Amino acid sequence: MNKYNICLLKGDGIGPEIVNEAVKVLDCVADKYGFQVNYDEALLGGSAIDAKGTPLPQETIDKCKASDSVLLGAVGGPKWDKLPGKERPEAGLLGIRGALGLFANLRPAVIFEPLKSASPLKDEIIGDKLDVMVVRELTGGIYFGERGRREADGEVEAYDTEQYKVSEIKRIAKVAFEMAMKRNKKLTSVDKANVLEASRLWRETVIEMSKDYPEVELNHLYVDNTAMQLVINPGQFDVILTNNIFGDILSDEASMISGSIGMLASASLSDSSLGLYEPIHGSAPDIAGQNIANPLATILSVAMMLKYSLNEPKAAEAIENAVNKVLAENRTPDIYEEGKNKVTCSEMGDLVCKAL
Ligand code: NAI
Ligand code: MG
Repeated sequence: MNKYNICLLKGDGIGPEIVNEAVKVLDCVADKYGFQVNYDEALLGGSAIDAKGTPLPQETIDKCKASDSVLLGAVGGPKWDKLPGKERPEAGLLGIRGALGLFANLRPAVIFEPLKSASPLKDEIIGDKLDVMVVRELTGGIYFGERGRREADGEVEAYDTEQYKVSEIKRIAKVAFEMAMKRNKKLTSVDKANVLEASRLWRETVIEMSKDYPEVELNHLYVDNTAMQLVINPGQFDVILTNNIFGDILSDEASMISGSIGMLASASLSDSSLGLYEPIHGSAPDIAGQNIANPLATILSVAMMLKYSLNEPKAAEAIENAVNKVLAENRTPDIYEEGKNKVTCSEMGDLVCKAL
């Protein structure tokens, strides 16, 4: 029997509530598909500041590294808002991503059939199905390039530098090609190769790598065109590969196509099978402790973990199907629609288990 060790970083606000429901669902699929999950827990963010005086205790890094995968709720809240940048809960989040070498960020933009009406896009544009995966490079590019201020022509000038090594492009492209192989064998690489040198190297490198993946249909788009295409013809995309800054913007754009923040999962991957899985939303302090948060983004993050870190794709698919089924009749308040059953956070977890 396969055994997996999962480190839980429940975090703050609604974090513990949503992670508990995700664990419930993971235990259900483990039973059903015959694998075993052991859990460890560690502190991150505000709860770590309160208990240990730092948003990222060394013990948390050690426990994450010792696990097969990490499931994170969310961090932050008004209680810690006045702390200086490096001491805030969010610093713990950036710190753990760095400590685990997570260079690939995966953000699916999916419309679940029963939630079609929540999308800001018209039915004709959405078509039968919308399921796009954005693969964003997370540790290079202009966010990490040389920066500064200097004098130029008697005034202040500021600069940031977009820079990528071939090896950095190769490792993120590999994630995207592998992803395309697991999905519909279609990959769109997004750049600005008509203007930027780093984008020209990006494109050359991706083309070179495509020789190793002859089955994958590869095309290239400029980022400005991609931004337009996502809202006029999103169905043309399956996997989108892009750099750090373009991915930051495009993944937010793509995810909002689904129209509901409580539904969106994400993954951050490293060179090893260790990944960090989390909902894209924050700790929602306004609804924390009321058992009304939508746990589905976290439950769907577990599905991504099963697919990309634990090699249990059947269990992952079962969760996605169960979520679709449950949504037909049941909604947490954030996605409520007239005529459906209004359910709590824990009831939603129970319903997904039942559907499984
Ligand atoms: P947020 O995503 O926490 O909340 C935005 C709005 O969406 C709120 O009205 C909230 O109630 C609602 N919402 C979010 N998730 C929901 C869910 N699962 N079910 C139902 N409703 C949900 O973003 P906000 O308000 O900007 O930030 C709150 C705190 O979270 C801040 O301290 C922020 O720094 C932190 N944050 C943490 C993130 C993380 O841990 N990855 C990401 C974004 C924000
Ligand atoms: Mg962003």
